[in-house]
Amino acid sequence: MPYRAHAVPIALITLLGFAGFAQNSTAVPSQPFGKTPHGEKVTLYTLTNKNGMSVSIMDYGATIVKIVVPDRNGKLDDVALGFDHFAPYLTQTAYFGATIGRYANRIARGKFEINHTAYQVPVNNGPNSLHGGWRGFDKRIWKVEPVESDSPAIQFTRFSPDGEEGYPGNLFVNVTFTLTDDNQLHISYRATTDKPTVINLTNHTYFNLAGAGNGSILDHVVTLHANAFTPVDATLIPTGEIKDVAGTPWDFRTATPIGLHLRETGGNPIGYDHNYVLTKGFFSNFGLAAEVEDPKSGRILKVYTDQPGVQFYTGNFLDGTLIGKDGKAYRQYDGFCLETQHFPDSPNHANFPSTLLRPGDVFKSTTIYAFDVK
Ligand code: BGC
Repeated sequence: MPYRAHAVPIALITLLGFAGFAQNSTAVPSQPFGKTPHGEKVTLYTLTNKNGMSVSIMDYGATIVKIVVPDRNGKLDDVALGFDHFAPYLTQTAYFGATIGRYANRIARGKFEINHTAYQVPVNNGPNSLHGGWRGFDKRIWKVEPVESDSPAIQFTRFSPDGEEGYPGNLFVNVTFTLTDDNQLHISYRATTDKPTVINLTNHTYFNLAGAGNGSILDHVVTLHANAFTPVDATLIPTGEIKDVAGTPWDFRTATPIGLHLRETGGNPIGYDHNYVLTKGFFSNFGLAAEVEDPKSGRILKVYTDQPGVQFYTGNFLDGTLIGKDGKAYRQYDGFCLETQHFPDSPNHANFPSTLLRPGDVFKSTTIYAFDVK
């Protein structure tokens, strides 16, 4: 991994007069983005590389607000769904761009056990718990910390106290975003706990490689490096089966337009909202998970991760009521997510890779969103 991050002495940072972060001795540009109802200031930070690619991330939810990348003619577009202003981020339920925790995806009925102790976390999505509860990591202000890196980088940290949203253990968590000069966005997570707990962290960016708000993603061509997926019940909880994708509409082992078999997946609403079992290794080895190409703009996105799964979600719940950037409505299938993560509801499935984090262990994970053109 070319990625490096080391703490910079606080005295140096203070000397430089920055908000507490550095990039090759240059501040990451920031701007005020809004205020929470509690009066907390929200700040937007922008990482820019030498190609003019930029990624803007706010401290509320450690949320990616913009990803501006060139198309095959060098034209820059923002490919991340979201809003021009902060206020809609407070009420949206789509989790645009957010860092999700403590447990990304669903936990059946919000119940799990650790060492025979039962825990109940919020039921906020039908009968289940979704994306960390009512007020997960996506709805918290994160602190900005020093990062020293050869590339533009920023780190967000937070302390999640024992019992927050029902989860056990005092958890220290950080997420670092690094933008390289070869148009890769590296997202690295680290977490520790003082009691056994469960953890599943991801980023919830919705991409449209033709530009956010520029129509449907059904013509994007996807390859998923997965031979199997985890089928779900009507409430999107895995049945426990690890099912071969061969002969099913879930087969993306070779490049396939998203829309080709989408209707055959059924579901309510119809579309892909499934966890794929990545072939790069069932446990933690790093590798290519997915490739997406937009034939119109020529933009390509490759996703690398060390996580065992990826939730491929085609924005099935978007219904045109969220008005995004430039006043454009986001309709069903106007964005896709590739949420690298552990499998949904893992704490209740002994046959899934474990999401248990014990005191003394360090949870570490990296995902790369790599952009290119064809
Ligand atoms: C889930 C969807 C959910 C969406 C919320 C995704 O991670 O898989 O079912 O509706 O998040 O935006």
